[in-house]
Amino acid sequence: MSEIETLRADFLSKIKDINNKQDLDNIKTELFGKNGKITSLFKNIGKIEADKKKDFASNLNSLKNDLLSEINKISSELEIKEINSKLKNEKIDITLPVRNYVEGKIHPVSQVIDEISSIFSEIGFSVEEGPDVENEYNNFTALNTPDNHPARDMHDTFYLNNEKELLLRTHTSPVQIRTMIKDKPPFKIIAPGRTYRSDSDQTHAPMFHQVEGLHIDKNINMAHLKGCLNYFIKEFFEVKKIKMRFRPSHFPFTEPSAEVDIGYEIKDGKIIIGEGDKWLEILGCGMVHPNVLKNVKIDTKKFQGYAFGIGIDRLAMLKYGINDLRAFFECDYRWLNHFGFDPLDVPTNYRGLSR
Ligand code: PHE
Repeated sequence: MSEIETLRADFLSKIKDINNKQDLDNIKTELFGKNGKITSLFKNIGKIEADKKKDFASNLNSLKNDLLSEINKISSELEIKEINSKLKNEKIDITLPVRNYVEGKIHPVSQVIDEISSIFSEIGFSVEEGPDVENEYNNFTALNTPDNHPARDMHDTFYLNNEKELLLRTHTSPVQIRTMIKDKPPFKIIAPGRTYRSDSDQTHAPMFHQVEGLHIDKNINMAHLKGCLNYFIKEFFEVKKIKMRFRPSHFPFTEPSAEVDIGYEIKDGKIIIGEGDKWLEILGCGMVHPNVLKNVKIDTKKFQGYAFGIGIDRLAMLKYGINDLRAFFECDYRWLNHFGFDPLDVPTNYRGLSR
C-alpha cells in the first residue's frame, strides 16, 4: 500500500472513534499543523519524480479532502451531542407545582381593580379599556364639554401638543364615547384605568385611577343607577348595610348629575363603613346627557341610561386603611410588602374578595 493509502486507512478509522473535541483538535494538528503529516507531504511534492508527480498530487488532494470532510462531520456530531447534553442538564419540569411564588406582591390598586371587575361582572357588566393618551374630542367635546367650557380648566389637563388636540385623559369617561362609537346599544360596561390631572397633595396625585360605568338600554332610569351603586358599595366593603347620600351636582355629560358620599366613622383608629356621621365623596354619576348620545348617533327616543365615575385609589385607601395617596405611587418595596396582596389570591365574589 502506498504511503497515502496507509495514511487514509489509519486516520479515517482514528477520526471515526473520536468522542471529544480535544482529541479531534489534536488529530487536526497532527495532520494539518505546521509539521503535520499531510502538510509535510505537500511540501515534498517538489522532490517527486516528474512522471509520478501528477498522480501523487491528485491522490494527496483527495486524501486531504476526505480527511477534512470526515473531521467536519465528527465535529458537527460532537457539537450536537454537546448541545443536547446541555439542554438535558438545564431542563426544567414546568409541570412541577410552584413553591416559592410568594416573592412578589400585587399592588392594592391592582387588587381593587380586580375586585371591582369581579363585582360588576356578577351583574352583567363587561370590562372595556381605552388609551391613556386621548384626543380632545373624546375627552371633552363628545362628552358635551365644548371649547371654553369651565370644566376644561377645572380638570387641570396635561396637554401633549400646542394645538391642544392630544392630552392625557382627565377621566375614564372617553371610554364611554369609544365604546358607543364602536358598537350598537345596549351597553353595560365598566372601564377601569389611569387618569391624569395636574394636581398633587395628600388626597390628589397627578396620576390616579378611575373606573367608569355605563349602562344604556331601553327604559333605564335613575333608580337603576341607585340600585347598582348600592349593590356595588355593599359588595366592595363587604358589609350588609351602608349609608349612601346622593348630592345634586353638575357634569356636562350627565343630566341630572349627582355626587355620591358614603357614611363612615372612625372607631379605635379604624374606619367603619356604614355607621357614624362622617361622609366621604367617592364618585360622580348621572343620567347620560342626550347630547352625548346624539354625538355617538344613538337614538335618544329609544335608548337612555346612566354613567358613573368612581375614584379607585380612594376606595382602596378606605378599604385597606391607607391614609396617604402618594404612598401608592412611591414604589417603596417595604410599603408594598405590607399592603400588597398574594399573587395567586385572585378576588372573586363567591370565594370572597379580600381574605
Ligand atoms: N368623569 C367624571 C369625573 O371625572 C365622573 C363622572 C363619570 C360623572 C360619569 C358622571 C358620569 O369627575
